[in-house]
Amino acid sequence: MASTPSSTYSAITLNINGEKHPLTVDHRTTLLDALRERLDLTGTKKGCDQGQCGACTVLIDGRRAVACLQLAVAADGREVTTVEGMAEGDRLHPVQQAFLDLDGYQCGYCTPGQICSAVAVIEEHAAGWPSAVTRDVGPEAGPPELTPEEIRERMSGNLCRCGAYVSIVQAVSRAAGARHQNTEEATV
Ligand code: FES
Ligand code: FES
Repeated sequence: MASTPSSTYSAITLNINGEKHPLTVDHRTTLLDALRERLDLTGTKKGCDQGQCGACTVLIDGRRAVACLQLAVAADGREVTTVEGMAEGDRLHPVQQAFLDLDGYQCGYCTPGQICSAVAVIEEHAAGWPSAVTRDVGPEAGPPELTPEEIRERMSGNLCRCGAYVSIVQAVSRAAGARHQNTEEATV
């Protein structure tokens, strides 16, 4: 591989989980391949490699993205969070803990993507974003209740071949409830 920038390679810096990684990459390299093949961050999984399954979901500047459809050069200088960056030391992220407590997985292959997606879903919902199944999107309606139907819709980009959906929905619901409770306690 070329080590200097050229018409086909660029020097970029990937900011992954708060750590900067200077890399020279072929312009065609996806963020997923850069994570897995260049940085050994194999928590992010490759399922379909064409944007269909959600196994490779990461957060870019706090928003969900499928890393297989994102070029590494397009992530240059942005904040990327992978499943490896969710826990704080030995303390799991509440979404990770909920998946563990409620068996939100079977083989676990889809789980990193499910967890990254769920973290963003909870934040999107807390910010008042409606989904395709939100019944009332009027300005007076306020944030929709995060029902199982809402969770299923908001998580619908993440497929699970093991069919662990029932537990996944329960885990997202529990983590969202915990976040809501913490926010309420912090404002009292
Ligand atoms: S591997 Fe990226 S969406 Fe399936
Ligand atoms: S737990 Fe096996 S694919 Fe989801």
